[in-house]
Amino acid sequence: MGQGLILGIESSCDETAAAVVERGERTRSSVVASQIATHARYGGVVPELASREHLRAIVPVVRAALTEAGVGLGDLDAVAVTSGPGLAGALLVGVSYAKALAFGRGLPLVAVNHLEGHIHAVLLEEREAAQSGHACGEEPALALVVSGGHTHLYLARPMQGSWSYRLIGRTVDDAAGEAYDKVAKLLGFGYPGGPWIDALARFGNPRAVPFAFSQVKPKVHLVGQPPRTKAARTAPIAELDPRLLFSFSGIKTAVLRYVEVHGLREEARARAARLFPAGLQSGAAGTAADPPKTREEAQALCPQETLDLVASFQRAVVGDLLKKSFAAAERVGASRILVTGGVAANRELRERFTREAARRGVRVAFPTLALSTDNAAMIAAAAWPRFVAGEFAAEELTADAALTLGR
Ligand code: KG4
Ligand code: ZN
Repeated sequence: MGQGLILGIESSCDETAAAVVERGERTRSSVVASQIATHARYGGVVPELASREHLRAIVPVVRAALTEAGVGLGDLDAVAVTSGPGLAGALLVGVSYAKALAFGRGLPLVAVNHLEGHIHAVLLEEREAAQSGHACGEEPALALVVSGGHTHLYLARPMQGSWSYRLIGRTVDDAAGEAYDKVAKLLGFGYPGGPWIDALARFGNPRAVPFAFSQVKPKVHLVGQPPRTKAARTAPIAELDPRLLFSFSGIKTAVLRYVEVHGLREEARARAARLFPAGLQSGAAGTAADPPKTREEAQALCPQETLDLVASFQRAVVGDLLKKSFAAAERVGASRILVTGGVAANRELRERFTREAARRGVRVAFPTLALSTDNAAMIAAAAWPRFVAGEFAAEELTADAALTLGR
């Protein structure tokens, strides 16, 4: 083995990413090409456009990651790639490219589950901190993976240098980030919706609209049924504790009803037209306006009633994530919680999880903002223990849009 350099490649959704990580503990480079501008005007990721953009970006992004790391292809010890879950066509771009590269250079190929990658975003940064003298926590953890495609609770346990995962909770319908995106679209804000709602919620009254947690209750008739939506595709929910199931489609509908009853529809439409003057269906390269930073900017963008609605929505969603994560940690006896995925970037989520952890004497860790959303450093890091164990991908490796993690 050389320096233990793994090139990670990630293309499961709307970011094309490549990174070089040394021995799963030192990030030599991490390059992310975001497609936000392409999808912004549609208020969500358009799968066909995502594949096309990945095809365009993959070669320059990999090249940039190698250059930034100061290495050539000949210095690599392995190639790692996200094989699922995600959008089939998007995943396929990364998988085909990684297979060709590994085959061409005679390098081993390691397939990585995207969800495991998100968990390793936190572990990678803990190992990096450990090198500079901070304690490293190679101990069981409750992991909340919360993003645009996933809301999952895992018990993550170190096992002879590798990790094992047990699924203990998840959404039965929408992912939390999906609810953020849909609510933002409904209110005429930009895509992705999380950063908009996060920014605007600061200026609203979170107690204005009492979204009851009962609205975030799992639909009983779905328990034991085959999963229904893209977010719910991971594993059967029959054996999971119903108290650890999430459901975010109810609150999305409640927001829609509020908007209609309070006559906020028109102003939301007008705002969308202002933010995206080219129109939602133009298909031309979009410009994504930035979320407001000050109260004045927020109030210029929407009425106080909308700010209050947004603050109340966020308070309910974060509260539900908080309650179930800490309940799950207690259930499995984990003394630390890892929160990861795009929604882990949320300011209120970080504050409230940190406060609750201190209150309960539990530790909580988040990735830095750059590693919260999709990236390839987390993929290269997750691949390291598999590489060491010689767990290489079969030649017939293909993208698996519905890949599951853990039992
Ligand atoms: O992990 P990620 O980049 O991609 C997926 O695997 O889905 O997560 C993207 C999701 C989007 O739904 C986005 O709205 C949400 O993360 N997000 C946030 C924030 N930043 C991104 N949600 C809440 N607050 C934020 N600050
Ligand atoms: Zn992700």
